[in-house]
Amino acid sequence: MSFDAMWSALESVGRHPRTGGYRRFAWTRDDTTLREWFAGEAAARGLDLTQDRAGNQWAWWGDPDAAVAAGRPGLVLGSHLDSVPDGGAYDGPLGVVSALAALDLLVAQGFTPARPIGIASFADEEGARFGIACAGSRLLTGQLDPDRARALRDTDGVTLAEAMAEAGHDPAHLGADPGTLRRIGTFVELHVEQGRALVDLGHPVGVGSAIWPHGRWRLDLAGEANHAGTTRLEDRRDPMLGLAAAVLAARSTARAHDCLATVGKVLVEPGGVNAIPSRVTAWLDARGPVDLDVRTVVAGVGAQAGVEPVEESWTPETTFDAALAGDLARVLDGAPLLSTGAGHDAGVLATAGLSTAMLFVRNPTGVSHSPREHAERDDCHRGVEALARVARELAG
Ligand code: HGY
Ligand code: MN
Ligand code: MN
Repeated sequence: MSFDAMWSALESVGRHPRTGGYRRFAWTRDDTTLREWFAGEAAARGLDLTQDRAGNQWAWWGDPDAAVAAGRPGLVLGSHLDSVPDGGAYDGPLGVVSALAALDLLVAQGFTPARPIGIASFADEEGARFGIACAGSRLLTGQLDPDRARALRDTDGVTLAEAMAEAGHDPAHLGADPGTLRRIGTFVELHVEQGRALVDLGHPVGVGSAIWPHGRWRLDLAGEANHAGTTRLEDRRDPMLGLAAAVLAARSTARAHDCLATVGKVLVEPGGVNAIPSRVTAWLDARGPVDLDVRTVVAGVGAQAGVEPVEESWTPETTFDAALAGDLARVLDGAPLLSTGAGHDAGVLATAGLSTAMLFVRNPTGVSHSPREHAERDDCHRGVEALARVARELAG
């Protein structure tokens, strides 16, 4: 199966030699390498490659615009290639490689689709560098303002516009792209499961039913720089105390409200061992089955930290097209339906009103956003076969 060759080709791109994790951030050299890889795979299959106004890549088998004119817009498969810092190999790339391998399988089976099949590689799904998750799909669907996006800065102060330009893409074009959107009749994203449901159920593939509401908030904790060895405790304005309160409150309020809350990124300035910080910036990731509970957790963290959390992104509860999910579960011989707390481009497209589904591939440990993330190769192949069966069902 072509999956193995593609998987090997990607193995080393953006992999950190010490941690073994991936650092594939938007609009970096590794991102360019991945974009070139995707373009090469599309060319090798004679697919028409385009890039939309949000920087997402699309490879088409068939003419998507003729299909739109005929009232039968295409079927799109795909996912993303970028990662979180020290992410695993599967989160994102499994969906893109599996989509290409599923298309190879369909061609090998002599399948002729009744509507075009597109493969998407969404830009900047993790928001690891510029902070907004699913930036490419949010821009595409008009859920992220292009001026706000262009002005986003990474921790070195580089704006997204500067980084895009440096990578050879004109940031002036960023924005919603209705022409691309109307080409999508149905979007199906295959993704490694980021949990243990499939392991416990003994199934290699599952079908997505819903994504929890979730968001990201920034905590701006101001302090007063001073000497660690000469400033009396009562004279200090130490922002680390607010951070400590925030982290403990995240855990206690999440537990109290059946949510998940994480402070995974903190910037301490100036960052001297012997200097009381002048400022601490922390980011809170909060999620849960009920959006009001998530809001309660965020408010609780802010109250304990003594600051008003600044919302940087919010994704409402996403319910995938239930009839479509049920249809795919049937096509896949009773594959289980799974909800998830992980955000995906499929969730953003569903929120934009597109007919959307997800397939999940078993992850033996459930670990994700870590170099330990894993899926057995046989299960990856089963995922490709499942995606091909779904494509026959939806594009036949
Ligand atoms: O954060 C998430 O859930 C996803 O990995 N972007
Ligand atoms: Mn992820
Ligand atoms: Mn992902």
